[in-house]
Amino acid sequence: MLDRRKFIKNTSVLSTLPFLPNFNFFKTTKKFIRTAHIGVGGMGKSDLKDTASHKNVKVVALCDVDSNALEEAGKLFPDAKKYKDYRVLIKEMSEDIDAVIVSAPDHTHAPASILAMENNKHVYCQKPLTNYVSESRQMKRLAEEKNLITQMGIQVHSFYDYKLATLLIQSGLIGKVSKVRAWSPKNWGYDGPKHTGADDIPQNLDWNLWLGTAQLRPYKEKIYHPAMWRKIEDFGCGTLGDMGVHIFDTPYNALQLDVPLTIKNKCRKYNSYAFPEKNFVEYDFPGTKYTTEKLKWIWEDGKGAPRRHKDLKLPNNDKLPLQGAMFIGENGKKLLLPHFMELPRFIENDEYKDFDVSTFVTNNQLSKVPVRDYDGESHLHYHQFIDACLGKDKCTAPFSYSAKLTETILLGVIAGRFPGKTLNWDSSNAKFREIEANKYLSSTYRNF
Ligand SMILES: NC(=O)c1ccc[n+]([C@@H]2O[C@H](COP(=O)([O-])OP(=O)(O)OC[C@H]3O[C@@H](n4cnc5c(N)ncnc54)[C@H](O)[C@@H]3O)[C@@H](O)[C@H]2O)c1
Repeated sequence: MLDRRKFIKNTSVLSTLPFLPNFNFFKTTKKFIRTAHIGVGGMGKSDLKDTASHKNVKVVALCDVDSNALEEAGKLFPDAKKYKDYRVLIKEMSEDIDAVIVSAPDHTHAPASILAMENNKHVYCQKPLTNYVSESRQMKRLAEEKNLITQMGIQVHSFYDYKLATLLIQSGLIGKVSKVRAWSPKNWGYDGPKHTGADDIPQNLDWNLWLGTAQLRPYKEKIYHPAMWRKIEDFGCGTLGDMGVHIFDTPYNALQLDVPLTIKNKCRKYNSYAFPEKNFVEYDFPGTKYTTEKLKWIWEDGKGAPRRHKDLKLPNNDKLPLQGAMFIGENGKKLLLPHFMELPRFIENDEYKDFDVSTFVTNNQLSKVPVRDYDGESHLHYHQFIDACLGKDKCTAPFSYSAKLTETILLGVIAGRFPGKTLNWDSSNAKFREIEANKYLSSTYRNF
């Protein structure tokens, strides 16, 4: 059995490693970063606080289509200008802002981020990066063309446990990885009938601006705003886009995967309205130096996930963590990565095995996490973004990385429109071989 204290002692060796400077930092003479925040209720409020906790941040603008959320955030930053339309904010304050934090619902990520980047602003955008593959690719391209600092809001990417798991996998602890199984029993889908009728739009909400580039539809209470939009097409990406993107991140990063070759989603029949309550997605990825020739990836979500499978059997018949990922390596070796706030566990021939992390040190990946302390770690991803804008650090989840991760997630979502059918993805041409699936890669924006 792994001894937690011993394990932590071993892993803390890494915290004493010197930080090796990277000379490719962004060049700037700025001493402060002036931020504008789009979406300041829900996760946006937490994004706002974590960003503002950096001593070199000045919050200069707040934007929300819900006046209640805007007022609440305004109490925290009374000097910041308040807006309900991000287009007006960017037009009026372009000269006064350096970075934009986008925490609105998923369908607004791309339109708001693209507008900000076109105006040469650095962007921190919540996950998943976009709702459509074409948008992710556009955001990646724009960020690169304009040499902007970008980060996707997968904050656990900067947590100790995930950095440690990445290090262990890349150090060869379990050999070459042939399969990843990842799961979440959460359900951000809806299998019921389409909601009909219309409710009165609350006075505090600008429904037209909330819809933004999405097509007009009647307002319905408790179906869209706040938070429930995740279940509905045009706005969210179901459980894959909600939890999947966090749980995919470490295996995706550790194994240095590109986008998949094939995708199959076994779920209920497509209903043109909401995402399935349960998804079982199989991906085949091209191999990398950390995997066998090909890598199989299985994602399960919804009630009852994951199904029982020998790959997921734990020593002592222990219960699986509620959400997480299992890396299957060579010779009976596996790595379990719970999501989240638990250390990864090394398993060999159905027994937990201890290991000395210091023998796996090959780089400085953990050197900037002083202690394993979840409260203390929650701001790291945001501060990394601000430090990168100040030319003192590099982002670890820039759009060059997170666009590919998002594309992988979105391909699984699209496969849900063709239950049980294998889709073949031609990444270089950004097309499926199955032409009927290509219409889901992009959308038409409404003028609003
Ligand atoms: N990284 C994480 O752990 C994490 C956790 C939760 C949510 N998220 C992400 O954060 C984003 C928001 O999710 P949420 O749960 O907070 O949703 P929410 O609906 O609870 O809150 C969204 C906020 O944005 C506002 N808003 C909506 N449209 C807007 C627009 N056009 N302009 C300005 N403001 C607008 C809403 O009024 C609301 O205040 C999503 O992309 C979600 O995936 C990330």
